[in-house]
Amino acid sequence: MAPVSYEFSLSGRKLSAHSGILSLMDDMGRALALDPGMRMLGGGNPAVVPAMQALVRERMAELLADEPGFERMMVSYDPPQGNPRFLRALADLLRREFGWDIGPQNLAITNGGQSAFFFLFNLLAGHFEGGRRKKILLPLAPEYIGYADQGLEPHFFVACQPQIEWPQGRGAKVFKYKIDFAAVERALARGDIGAIAVSRPTNPTGNVLTDAEVARLSDLAAARNLPLILDNAYGAPFPGVLFVPAKPFWAPHVILTLSLSKLGLPGTRTGIVIAPEPIAKAVGALTAIVGLANGNIGQQLVLPWIESGKILELGPQLLRPFYEARGRQAAAWAREYFDAAGLDWALHANEGAFFHWLWLKNLKISTRELFERLKARQVLTVPGEYFFYGLEADWPHRHECLRMNFSREPEAVRQGYQIIAEEAAKATR
Ligand SMILES: Cc1ncc(COP(=O)(O)O)c(C=O)c1O
Repeated sequence: MAPVSYEFSLSGRKLSAHSGILSLMDDMGRALALDPGMRMLGGGNPAVVPAMQALVRERMAELLADEPGFERMMVSYDPPQGNPRFLRALADLLRREFGWDIGPQNLAITNGGQSAFFFLFNLLAGHFEGGRRKKILLPLAPEYIGYADQGLEPHFFVACQPQIEWPQGRGAKVFKYKIDFAAVERALARGDIGAIAVSRPTNPTGNVLTDAEVARLSDLAAARNLPLILDNAYGAPFPGVLFVPAKPFWAPHVILTLSLSKLGLPGTRTGIVIAPEPIAKAVGALTAIVGLANGNIGQQLVLPWIESGKILELGPQLLRPFYEARGRQAAAWAREYFDAAGLDWALHANEGAFFHWLWLKNLKISTRELFERLKARQVLTVPGEYFFYGLEADWPHRHECLRMNFSREPEAVRQGYQIIAEEAAKATR
């Protein structure tokens, strides 16, 4: 049959073009489904945390045994903003535990946090009446690859280059990005910012903004009547994959997003938006148009944990010890193999989430090329270039970083780090 080609709209062309998140998800999904030999250090898939999965199975059995409840769950569409009982329980929990002045009207469920960002970004940036254009400000690049291509139009983000600190001295090979607030203020002074957005912990680096940094961003946003979007896919109050103290934060101009994915439930596709009422309502309206309603299963599965408050304990008790131990073990392999290979390397401080962000100085090839060479040796990573979108000036550092998910089978991670050391050594000579 002759190949057919159809003309796509401008937005259609942009959304269906090659994107970093498409290749990441495609590589990861294929490797997980079809290639057991691939060492999976790419993607943001959570690990199977045995104690957590035991709880999920127990809950699933309860749901199956509850015949009318099970039927309601499978045979009903929820309202687009989410299941009313779930929304009430979550609002009560957040009021009770953190004193946030919110009710169910401030909440909206989405099919994963990823959909929430598509809705929020396109609500708050793009073309506005009177020919004005607005952008999303990312106060700290590198930032989550999954945002990069979500704008319905190009040039959607403005990002700020961070300062680099060496908290334990250079010899420790641990660096940390800090927000350059002067750069953030300069970006805000452009007058075309629609919202500020940041992930905490940050994907890809595992950086956790301090409470003081969050408060300062919140003040800057409030002073300009802008929403501050805090992406809490890994952090507080849940799932709580945090290795340093970090207070959960919400304020009347803050949009806080949560997700069940990193609790170990990415298959349920459950995102949660906590926002000023008009924004929560708009997210519900978008859900109705795009998908009618959200999946019910994630909400029903965790409902008793929300009602009892148990959901707040799962991170500190089950997830943190698991991921922190995997991170420490992988950092020890990094020291062993990267030093032995004679590399000039450093890892970003691992304060939460489940990634190592490797800085390879003197790399003679792009990290995309390094990624390809590693993939050919059955090690899947994510090249750093994808995370530096929105920066105006070129910055050599953006071509020197690689993200590794350290949370999966330890032996695959060990071999992966060893092969990274070998390939990086060939590429730095
Ligand atoms: C920082 C961050 N935000 C949002 C998401 C979206 O996750 P989900 O759609 O599974 O909730 C991810 C997934 O990896 C992420 O890392």
